[in-house]
Amino acid sequence: MPRVLAADPVSAGRYLVTVGACNDCHTPGWEEGGQVPEADWLVGSPIGWRGPWGTTYPSNLRLIVQSLSEDAFVQVLRTRKERPPMPWMNVNALSEADARAIYRFIHALGPRGEPMPAAVAPGEKPATPYFDFTPQQMERLPVGTSPGTATQRP
Ligand code: HEC
Repeated sequence: MPRVLAADPVSAGRYLVTVGACNDCHTPGWEEGGQVPEADWLVGSPIGWRGPWGTTYPSNLRLIVQSLSEDAFVQVLRTRKERPPMPWMNVNALSEADARAIYRFIHALGPRGEPMPAAVAPGEKPATPYFDFTPQQMERLPVGTSPGTATQRP
C-alpha cells in the first residue's frame, strides 16, 4: 500500500489532513484563505449541510479522536460509509499507515471545542443555521445524464 514519507507519523498526519482537505469542512473559517492557526483545526462546524441526505454537521474530530482508540478510528476511516458531504468514498481508500498518521496528528493536537449537533433526518428542518444543497433545476440536465441519489430532491 502507498504511504506518505515523513520524519514521524504526526508530520505525515499534518500533511495528509492538509492535502486531504479535512479542514475544508471540519475547521471553521478555513475557506477564508486557510489562515486558521493549527491549534484551532478540526473542531467541527455547527452549520449544517442540508440536502437529500438530511442535515449533517462536520464532526469535532478533536473530541472524536480522544474518545476512540487508534484502531477504532482507523476502522472508521477505512470502512464507514455514511452521509454526504463527508467524502467517505475517498477516505476509505487511505492505507492503514496513513490512517494511523491522521489519528496521531489529531490526537496530538489535544481536545478542543464542543461536540457538534446530531444529524437531522431528510425533510426535517434543522434548528441550527445550515447551507442548502438542495439540487435545483434538475429537469435541465441533458437527456441521458444520470444524477446520483445525493443529487435528487428529498
Ligand atoms: C466536504 C466536507 C467534508 C470534508 C472535506 C471532510 N469531512 Fe469528515 N465529515 C463531514 C461531515 C458533514 C461529517 C458528518 C457526517 C454524518 O453525520 O453522517 C463528517 C464526519 C467525519 C467523521 C466521523 C466522526 C464521527 O462523528 O464519528 C470522521 C472520522 C471524519 N469526518 C474525518 C474526516 C477526515 C480525516 C477528513 C479529511 C481526509 C474529512 N473528514 C474531510 C464533512 C467533511
